[in-house]
Amino acid sequence: MTYRSLFSLCALTASAFAQDGGQLFTQYCSACHGADGKGATGGAFPPLAGSAWVAGDADRAIKIALYGLHGPVNVAGKTYNLEMPPQGAVIPDDQIAAILTFVRSSWGNQASAVSADLVKSIRAATSDRSMPWTAEEILKLHPLPLEKTALSSLISQVYQGPWSEMPDFAQLKPISVEEEHDGIISLSDSPFKESFAMVWEGKFEAPSTGEYIFVLDADDAARVIIDNEPTIEIDGFGPMNGTRAHRGKVTLTAGTHPFRVEYLQIKGNQGIALGWKAPASNSWKWLTDKTAPQREPIPIAAVNGRPAIYRNFIAGTTPRAIGFGFPGGFNICYSADNLATELVWTGKFMDGAHHWTERGSGNEPPAGENVVNLSKNRALPVAAKFRGYKLDPTGNPTFSVQVGSQTLLDSWQADTSGLIRKLSISGSGKAMKIIISDQLAAKSTTGQEYALGDKLLVTVDGAVLETAKGKTTLKLDPAKPVTLTYHWK
Ligand code: HEC
Repeated sequence: MTYRSLFSLCALTASAFAQDGGQLFTQYCSACHGADGKGATGGAFPPLAGSAWVAGDADRAIKIALYGLHGPVNVAGKTYNLEMPPQGAVIPDDQIAAILTFVRSSWGNQASAVSADLVKSIRAATSDRSMPWTAEEILKLHPLPLEKTALSSLISQVYQGPWSEMPDFAQLKPISVEEEHDGIISLSDSPFKESFAMVWEGKFEAPSTGEYIFVLDADDAARVIIDNEPTIEIDGFGPMNGTRAHRGKVTLTAGTHPFRVEYLQIKGNQGIALGWKAPASNSWKWLTDKTAPQREPIPIAAVNGRPAIYRNFIAGTTPRAIGFGFPGGFNICYSADNLATELVWTGKFMDGAHHWTERGSGNEPPAGENVVNLSKNRALPVAAKFRGYKLDPTGNPTFSVQVGSQTLLDSWQADTSGLIRKLSISGSGKAMKIIISDQLAAKSTTGQEYALGDKLLVTVDGAVLETAKGKTTLKLDPAKPVTLTYHWK
């Protein structure tokens, strides 16, 4: 008996053990995908449970198991951007088949068994591969199976006309009506390229009672009507790239709700993406065959008592904006263009997802509440120059602006009740007029306290606030630093 046939004899007995897909899964996959298939370390890794990547056509999962996967991938509504190392070199074909058979039939997954022969033929056909796949490559070869959506009794209607805004469908007759049994809203079978509109009507099955979030993006116009109430609307002509996407919140009781989507294609490209999140869920589900760019929040926040800094476009201020999120939930945005703190707010600081994951265009609004827009215009004379900011040992900023031979120092920090601002001038010379707000006129309340708009109270130590023409200013003397504290009502 040769060594080889001896080995295969042993393999026969070993195979009863080796074919235990569950055990092999624990050995080779569960460290990352979790023993329960939900993704190890609390979902930091993508799930195999409920993943469309392991459903349908088995080629997709076989290729990933053999050669790994890297780069952005959307699994069950969440985007990951990680690296799965190739497993093919260490796991033989029959074991990969057993693992995938197990994965495809566990945790609620319901897909057919995978044979060792299929793994073998795919390995042979892809033997020149050395790099992990990207999701894009895999999807070109093996598109994900479309799941039935939460829409039932869905009917689509096509209308034709040269509209530039959403027509009044009640006045129109559809040129075709179709039933969409998979509940998927799709433009793939629209007969036209331009100048048409579509309406989908059906029932949305809400799995539980609570607040639902819907996200809509479209090229060009679209409207979502839930329970006969317009919930989200995108007007006019424009691309579907996330910049025109809108979200809407609606409270639904568990059960079915009338659901209507109107779509208008004016000219150029066409597209519609509509997703929803169940109450307290973190993942998007899609009612369309297209998905909108993912935008999960990435909170930016003070860490270990040090303020967080955000240096990207912030909505409500100028391009050269510098945000500081102080511990305790008090936040400012200083404009280096206008030489003034233009926004102050409480609660969450900024959501980094927009600029960090999508290299997004556009402005990100403050993530928190009680936003007060203090100023919108340049606060100091034209000759004044921004000289940057310095951080003290705990990370609190002092912005410095050169005004002639003097330097204005504007430092900010927070305590548990609000923001503390110290203004001083280094260098001698005359007093400087400082704009505290060009949007709000302070009203004196008691002692050194003033109301600035309806949200903010300001206490001033070392000067008095002056108001004229809806603006609030103070006079800063070179020898007399001033302290202001900002509290929210
Ligand atoms: C070292 C960690 C690690 C191991 C071990 C691992 N994976 Fe993965 N797997 C990942 C990561 C990370 C991704 C996502 C990669 C990306 O972001 O592009 C992934 C993605 C996948 C996907 C596609 C996305 C999904 O969640 O459905 C499948 C299928 C998959 N792995 C199957 C397996 C199987 C089967 C095994 C065991 C044979 C395995 N993986 C072992 C880390 C791992």
